[in-house]
Amino acid sequence: MSKLIIEGGRRLSGSVIIHKAKNAILPILAATVLNGGDNIIYNCPKLKDVFATINILRHLGCVAEYHGDDLHINSSNVCRADITPNLMEAMRSSVIFLGAVMARCGHAIASPPGGCEIGLRPIDLHIKAFKQLGISITEKKGEIVCKKKRASVKDEIFLSFPSVGATENIMLLASLGGNIVKISNAAKEPEIIDLANFLRELGARVIGDGTSEIIISGVALKNTNKLIEHTCIPDRIVAATYMSALAITGGEGEVLQINEEHMQPITAVFKDMGCNIEVKHDTMTFYAPSILNRVDYIRTQPHPGFPTDAQAIVMAALSVARGTSIFSENIFDNRYKHIEELNKMGADVTVDGRIAVVRGIDGRHLRGTNVVARDLRGAGALVVSGLNAVGETEVKGLEHLDRGYYDLENGLNGLGANVVRIN
Ligand code: EPZ
Repeated sequence: MSKLIIEGGRRLSGSVIIHKAKNAILPILAATVLNGGDNIIYNCPKLKDVFATINILRHLGCVAEYHGDDLHINSSNVCRADITPNLMEAMRSSVIFLGAVMARCGHAIASPPGGCEIGLRPIDLHIKAFKQLGISITEKKGEIVCKKKRASVKDEIFLSFPSVGATENIMLLASLGGNIVKISNAAKEPEIIDLANFLRELGARVIGDGTSEIIISGVALKNTNKLIEHTCIPDRIVAATYMSALAITGGEGEVLQINEEHMQPITAVFKDMGCNIEVKHDTMTFYAPSILNRVDYIRTQPHPGFPTDAQAIVMAALSVARGTSIFSENIFDNRYKHIEELNKMGADVTVDGRIAVVRGIDGRHLRGTNVVARDLRGAGALVVSGLNAVGETEVKGLEHLDRGYYDLENGLNGLGANVVRIN
């Protein structure tokens, strides 16, 4: 089992480039099934979840190869519509393939996606929407068998919760053929807009993305754009992780190739902590105070609220702040697994249901010890905490970290950290 050894206590400074967003890339890779031609995703980070998605694409009959940093996918020979359990279990977002495969093949067979890192993560909203869109769905022996009953559909879906994945799955299903589908209470995350941009390049008509009302008009497969070239948006959560690394070490630096608008809910919290932040074009200049301020109350919300994916990462920084901060995790029902590990390092965090009370240690340092990550963003939080801790911190559970961070240790070492990966 590989691990990171972090020698903490160093003040970070310098610049770091933010790679493209996992949560934009994954649904867009599913969408490459749609055009029956060539797709190039430029500057695609070599993440564990990207390789898991490449395995699904190849299983379906696509050719998927990296040429340098660019991922080339040809979907002209999609020859099957089943996604085997081992492929589905590799990550949660495999469920996104249901919509894309059904659009292309008219049917799809899958199994419930992996989950339970951060909660049950059901897919009831996906299934309910599919049924309303004329899909027959039978579940037997752990398999979900989906079949289009109507060639095209004109309908409106109301999501009882603005689920990112359900919004994406509906968009993918509706994008091929003579469908006109309206999604009400749609997710508004930046990754939804990026997917909509890709689907417009495909030839579908998509309006309202980024708002709670999205309308998708499909395009016939024979009329799709047979060469789609796309560069995804930067990863706002990876950017938040580097901001937290600078904040927790009282550092300063430049965070490059970000999208200012996407960062707003995150930037606001770091400013509340006393960080001085300026953004010009796609460059953020970041200065942290020697001791961070507490933040009264952080509630995770659908976009444009504070993102749940930044909760653990920001909590790490606030664990060393002056005073007490309170978190309310409102999106997932089991996303505090990092807290036990943070407390092993000298943090003082208590949990009561969805509420976490973070009693900052007033600028004193955490202490290095051995910790284990249990989910992706919790892993990021533990690495950030190790940067502050006196002595050595050993972080295990890198199989979670590598799902969404590309080369985090070298990015941090470029800022003056001392992080070594032991395989
Ligand atoms: C996406 O997950 C992201 N993953 C998550 O990022 C992110 O935390 C989440 O959106 C919220 O922003 C990808 O994009 C690959 P949801 P998703 O459907 O689509 C419940 C990371 O760290 N729900 O918006 O699964 C669900 O259990 C990951 O990069 C249902 O109850 O999120 C959760 O409590 C973690 N039924 C809430 O809604 C459903 O059918 C939000 O889920 C679907 C969701």
